[in-house]
Amino acid sequence: MSLKKVNPDQPISFEFSKKFKVVAEEILKKYPEKNKKSAVMPFLYLAQKQNDNWIPLAAIKYVSKYLSMPYINVYEVATFYSMFNLSPVGKYFIQVCTTTPCLIRGADKIVKVCKQKISEKENQISKNGNCSWTEVECLGACVNAPMMQINDDYYEDLDEKSTAKIIDSIFKDEILQPGSYRGRKNTAPEKENKINGSDHA
Ligand code: FES
Repeated sequence: MSLKKVNPDQPISFEFSKKFKVVAEEILKKYPEKNKKSAVMPFLYLAQKQNDNWIPLAAIKYVSKYLSMPYINVYEVATFYSMFNLSPVGKYFIQVCTTTPCLIRGADKIVKVCKQKISEKENQISKNGNCSWTEVECLGACVNAPMMQINDDYYEDLDEKSTAKIIDSIFKDEILQPGSYRGRKNTAPEKENKINGSDHA
């Protein structure tokens, strides 16, 4: 399962860049002033995006001040959800779902490929420095199991061969198309609805 380890090396300070501040202010407009703490999850997500996929403690402090929340409340949110990383991860961060529907459809084989190609242990950066992987709970794409998430995209209907192909590509900084790797359109039955008759695999 994913580990929630706070990185021992921490930056002293954090603040949103100009670009992210604009996005943050747009998010805040969705909430009444008295409920602005409801923006804590999108704010943490923004902080993670800006900081190469992980959230330093200084960012938790920054978000707590921004939203006038106690630090501990923001820390609780950041440590509870598996989508928030508290230590550096790869530029390409792979989350493999190993909850039951994915597991009975072969998620263990996806994990095996990640171990062989990226690192023996989860949450370790690959030798070439651009990739890491972890196991996570259900990502809500069970109907296309087994699947994995790479940064913001879902790769679905995987097997060992397609997983290896995807990982080899990201090692070369080439991003393959997300979606079904058995040629299904979204969640449609595969025989009736191939994507333009083509197959990613
Ligand atoms: S069980 Fe894997 S996406 Fe739901």
